Amino acid sequence: MTENKPGKVTMEKLVSLCQRRGFIFPSSDIYGGLSACWDYGPVGVELKRNVKESWWRASVQERDDMVGLDTSILMNPRVWEASGHVTQFSDPLVECKDCHQRWRADDLKENKCPACGGELTDPQQFNLMFKTFMGPVEEAANVVYLRPETAQGIFVNFQNALNTSRKRLPFGVAQIGKAFRNEITTGNFIFRSREFEQMEIEYFVKPGTDDKWFDYWVEERLNWYYGLGIKKENLRLREHGKDELAHYSQKCFDIEYNFPMGWAELEGVANRGDFDLKQHMEYSGKGLTYLDEESKEHVVPYVIEPSAGVDRSVLALLCDAYDEEIVNDELRVLFHFHTDLAPIKVAVLPLSRKENLSALAKDVYADLRPYFMTQYDDTQAIGRRYRRQDELGTPYCVTIDFQSLEDKMATIRERDTMNQIRVSVAALKDTLQAKLAGEDLFVLPEGGVIWKEGD
Ligand code: GAP
Repeated sequence: MTENKPGKVTMEKLVSLCQRRGFIFPSSDIYGGLSACWDYGPVGVELKRNVKESWWRASVQERDDMVGLDTSILMNPRVWEASGHVTQFSDPLVECKDCHQRWRADDLKENKCPACGGELTDPQQFNLMFKTFMGPVEEAANVVYLRPETAQGIFVNFQNALNTSRKRLPFGVAQIGKAFRNEITTGNFIFRSREFEQMEIEYFVKPGTDDKWFDYWVEERLNWYYGLGIKKENLRLREHGKDELAHYSQKCFDIEYNFPMGWAELEGVANRGDFDLKQHMEYSGKGLTYLDEESKEHVVPYVIEPSAGVDRSVLALLCDAYDEEIVNDELRVLFHFHTDLAPIKVAVLPLSRKENLSALAKDVYADLRPYFMTQYDDTQAIGRRYRRQDELGTPYCVTIDFQSLEDKMATIRERDTMNQIRVSVAALKDTLQAKLAGEDLFVLPEGGVIWKEGD
């Protein structure tokens, strides 16, 4: 199959659609962008919020053993000394002696410049943390870092979270927030950027039970992706070899997704042992232990860390949901987003701009928007508006036509099947609510009629 045949997602198609429809733009676009930084547009911001909301619901709201935190991006620089990031959070950097482009040595298949074939310098360790200064004086004593992971905000708050939540082991802390890395090589759209968001869990367990909880979290996290509709064949697990484990990690599995550029890390699940808590005890002089009620001993918990990227999840969900098909000799492009994730749940589309139709359609719009993210669109022919909503991944369009004025009924058109049903305007909210919660579109409310788009 060639790249441009209908049905196959490529990064080029995705980038262009995302920009055209308001999912994602290059950062500071009018100034020519900023390398590996991205802005989420009016539709993208909704998708991203829905991803985070789904993760938070699964990781905090629906669990007894988890609490959340939102810690600051700037932290005491001692944190990064203790965590090992100052000395060890680096990648091997090589530079081409001819064209002076820089590369990550461990990304290269051959020992020559991928751009011009030139000779490369010996690798030098390049620290990935962004540095800035706190206060008005730019001197070494005032250096602070933009956090490269959200995890450390959780470790340094271990006692605060434990004491105030009164949880017992095993328990976990979840956090969603921005992280920054001065990556040497970036690219593949939002896959690897210099500013991104993470969704991290630090799950504290009794030493000796860590293997069991590691397996538990790998399965739990896979199920989260499956639950959002990601195809099973597009996810796989890969265990890190001893030589690629991060400095804090005893064992790590990547959950990989089959992106258009190939299999790549979507999330890491690591056994961090007691590395972080012990380091922070040593550097801060504070006790970060847990009193085991059975043995009456203080233990330093082990930590299982499922660490996911928000932006990578968004990218995987975009790739997975993207679809093309030929309908009436024309290409239809759509996103089959899970209803929980769809940026716009309902579009209200009056068949024409005639005043009496607009009045009813606007009433319907006003009735629905407190319940669902709803869009009103009265531009262009109805077929084009359906295609536009398909490209936004909107699960349901509600069409108001002239007959609606007579019988107070409206048409609900379903994105995936293009089936249409006619229901009373008064029943719209309940019908849509039921359908968004997963009820079968073919189960009609009383008096409903079903047909296919174009019939
Ligand atoms: N606390 C552990 C940690 O940060 P990581 O494997 O370095 O582990 C976790 O990062 C996740 O964060 C990755 O699986 C990925 O989804 C996301 N991530 C890391 N670097 C990223 C980058 N430069 N751009 C986008 N996402 C990134």
